[in-house]
Amino acid sequence: MIEESDDYSNKMMVAILRATEEVNHLKSVDTILDRILYESRKLANADAGSIFLVEDDKLRFSYVQNDTLIQEDESTADLYMDLAIPIDEKSIVGFSALTKSEVIVDDAYRIPENLPYSFNQDFDRKSGYVTSSMLTLPLKGMNDKLVGVMQLINAKDEENRIVPFSRESRTYVPLFAINATLAIERGIMTRELILRMMKMAEMRDPSETGTHVQRVGAYSAEIYQRWALNRKMAKKDVKRAKDLIRIAAMLHDVGKVGITDAILKKPGKLDDQEFAEMKWHTIRGAQLFMNRSSELDEMSFEIALNHHEKWAGGGYPGKVPDIMSDVARMGVPKKGEEIPLAARITSLADVFDALSSRRSYKEPWTEERVVAEIEKDSGRSFDPELVEAFFQIYNVIKAIREKSWV
Ligand code: C2E
Ligand code: SIN
Ligand code: SIN
Ligand code: FE
Ligand code: FE
Repeated sequence: MIEESDDYSNKMMVAILRATEEVNHLKSVDTILDRILYESRKLANADAGSIFLVEDDKLRFSYVQNDTLIQEDESTADLYMDLAIPIDEKSIVGFSALTKSEVIVDDAYRIPENLPYSFNQDFDRKSGYVTSSMLTLPLKGMNDKLVGVMQLINAKDEENRIVPFSRESRTYVPLFAINATLAIERGIMTRELILRMMKMAEMRDPSETGTHVQRVGAYSAEIYQRWALNRKMAKKDVKRAKDLIRIAAMLHDVGKVGITDAILKKPGKLDDQEFAEMKWHTIRGAQLFMNRSSELDEMSFEIALNHHEKWAGGGYPGKVPDIMSDVARMGVPKKGEEIPLAARITSLADVFDALSSRRSYKEPWTEERVVAEIEKDSGRSFDPELVEAFFQIYNVIKAIREKSWV
């Protein structure tokens, strides 16, 4: 049932991932960008800011914070805005990237005509925000390679009046940015490692694509955050767990690598015996994280094993007898809060994405039908408290769905 080579390379990938985690205190790119933007804005006392990362000759909008528009630690669809800006002299961020130099603007609406770049007012117009002062700097990594651009917006004085960026911020923010950029490069490396790992599984299962995996990670992180805020959990713990679940949820189906092609790629419905074999992907996946030598392993284990359990009971592998006889320790029937939180979240995220997407065995469902199904299964397949959180941030979920992931 297991193809040696896939199983071996998968184990190697997990070993590499674990080593990377130990060296770097693995964090998702989003968490790194969140921290960097927060610290930079604090250094410069800036109201807002965003980070663009270089991707295929463009600057891709990658993170935003805005104290005026976005409540701290709330989910926002703005985070998943699909925006790519050419690296040329026309925009401020483009110019900064092109020339690898800082651009300082005291008033965005009064940029001298003789300068090559101009301020794009689209965002202000849409949001009602008023951009005034800007500090835009290139993020340069190893060997002076351009990694992205950070733009801080609207510096404030002690009385919270918008002022130009001070000489001090113009000195200290770029210094901080040097270290910050190294952290971003590490984060990107980690993400690529995971996606490469997923690509190996994808060769076997065409439905588990990099985009599916990234969406499930993002949905899970956002559902978790809303749930945790509803429960008034401590901010620090929320950030930490959100980072872990984003990565661990991406690995939910890594055990499919042990399932034969005849089943994985079957165009039609699986018969009972085929489905019984398919169910093994939960245990195969969990086995990869058996050592559980870190919090990430621990969560990846819980998600891989339990993401097909159901809130009201009756999911798998819990109550499947043939699986129980083999790995009895894992195979205890589970329901409700016996199912780990991270797995309950990933289950909702995975089914939402599976229903909304094309599979070898089904067409994508319409949004109305997907929503009706999730509502119907609240309290049956899914934890109702999580379904509630899901619909509270439905605009964020849709933005994740509509974003073109790469
Ligand atoms: P998957 O395609 O990633 O689907 C994940 C989960 O989404 C499924 O878990 C199920 O809970 C939900 N889901 C997906 N499509 C549908 C659907 O059309 N209707 C409903 N009600 N739910 C849906 P499940 O059922 O445990 O399946 C696990 C994996 O087994 C699937 O992952 C897929 O790889 C495979 N699979 C399941 N059914 C079939 C099938 O009829 N044919 C083939 N070729 N594969 C199947
Ligand atoms: C944008 O959001 O279009 C970037 C703003 C700029 O630097 O021109
Ligand atoms: C948690 O507080 O992290 C778990 C609680 C739950 O499973 O609902
Ligand atoms: Fe699965
Ligand atoms: Fe999946």
